[in-house]
Amino acid sequence: MPGFGNHFVSEAVPGALPVGRNSPQVVPFGLYAEQLSGTAFTAPRAENRRSWLYRLRPAAQHPAYRPYDRASRLASGPLHDMPPSPNRLRWNPLPLPTEPTDFVDGLVTYCGNGDVATAVGFAVHLYACNRSMDGRAFFNADGEMLIVPQEGALDIVTEMGRFALEPLQIAVIPRGVRFRVGLCGKTARGYVCENYGAPFRLPDLGPIGSNGLANPRDFETPTAWFEDVDAPVELIQKFQGGLWATRLRHSPFDVVGWHGNLAPCRYDLRRFNTINSVSYDHPDPSIFTVLTSPSDTPGTANCDFVIFPPRWVVAEETFRPPWFHRNIMSEFMGLITGAYDAKAGGFAPGGASLHNQMASHGPDRASYEAAIAATLAPHRIEASMAFMFESRFPFRPTRIALEADFAQPDYDDCWDGFRKAQIEFGEDAA
Ligand SMILES: [Fe+2]
Repeated sequence: MPGFGNHFVSEAVPGALPVGRNSPQVVPFGLYAEQLSGTAFTAPRAENRRSWLYRLRPAAQHPAYRPYDRASRLASGPLHDMPPSPNRLRWNPLPLPTEPTDFVDGLVTYCGNGDVATAVGFAVHLYACNRSMDGRAFFNADGEMLIVPQEGALDIVTEMGRFALEPLQIAVIPRGVRFRVGLCGKTARGYVCENYGAPFRLPDLGPIGSNGLANPRDFETPTAWFEDVDAPVELIQKFQGGLWATRLRHSPFDVVGWHGNLAPCRYDLRRFNTINSVSYDHPDPSIFTVLTSPSDTPGTANCDFVIFPPRWVVAEETFRPPWFHRNIMSEFMGLITGAYDAKAGGFAPGGASLHNQMASHGPDRASYEAAIAATLAPHRIEASMAFMFESRFPFRPTRIALEADFAQPDYDDCWDGFRKAQIEFGEDAA
């Protein structure tokens, strides 16, 4: 896992990295040294992230950026195009595009919180695309991007190296790192958390101990890879909510070697070490936290990325699905594959739901009836992977999300028709 205590060293050509000095007078092969800082220089050592990149040309070699007028469904916090909604919301899967659309142009903002200007909160996007970013590259000055593919494998090229990414894997691209997304198949769809706040890190484990949940060794960092291509590239950046583009005469993926603790990473959700109850009740879903972006209040996250993976369910004398709840934290949920155990229908892979601060929610009626009638033998939740972006900050949905024809106007109905509990008073009670 990039970050504290993990310093990565990688060179695509032996001898490309200077030894000892980060910036010697002359870098081997005449490469250009560049520091990429992901935290303030003076951030505490445990928070500090930076890497040194050694490249064919300075990244500074580009003309001015001009406004980029596509990707019109991408929005940033603060989101003010609609009033905040206390309603529970759910969406069918984001439709795949019919026009040629790549990853950047295929981003659709569903909701968000916070503000890019103050580096608080995050936005939730879905992407649906049918083209690779040929001749194009992107970086996000507003935040890091946690990419959760739902359908279709991706070929992600970054300044620090390239890697494939398939559904049930996730990637984190740090703020500022240039990347392009290729499609391995004809189409791709997935979710993105654009995190304006503190970089994602592994959660503390407390009494769980030194192992468990997402283990650090399973976060894979790419090895240096570069291309020496002198062909036009449109470089797009997201800056303070707007998109801007410039024209390079060469590939920006020309980093021959790099070292540091700021880097993209990939993690396979199937490697998650799931912890759960072996007696009664089930823990709060925080027990399934993969990564957390802390806020300035300890234990109260800017964003927790939480998954609901395949697992044995064994709790005794217990209502086993998620119970009814109203939380101070707000929850955006997505489904990568399979079915979620609190919903009998309506929450499909590629779909989404939003339960804001203090919204009452929980199992739908069919799931509830099945759970209270179930024989409580150990059973395994198979072939399913739901996830949640949970935040201390309520989400504002966008107009596009609220008015989409794939929004579900009847979501509330799934909690309709519960029978009233019957209390029978005996003579003693009277
Ligand atoms: Fe919930």
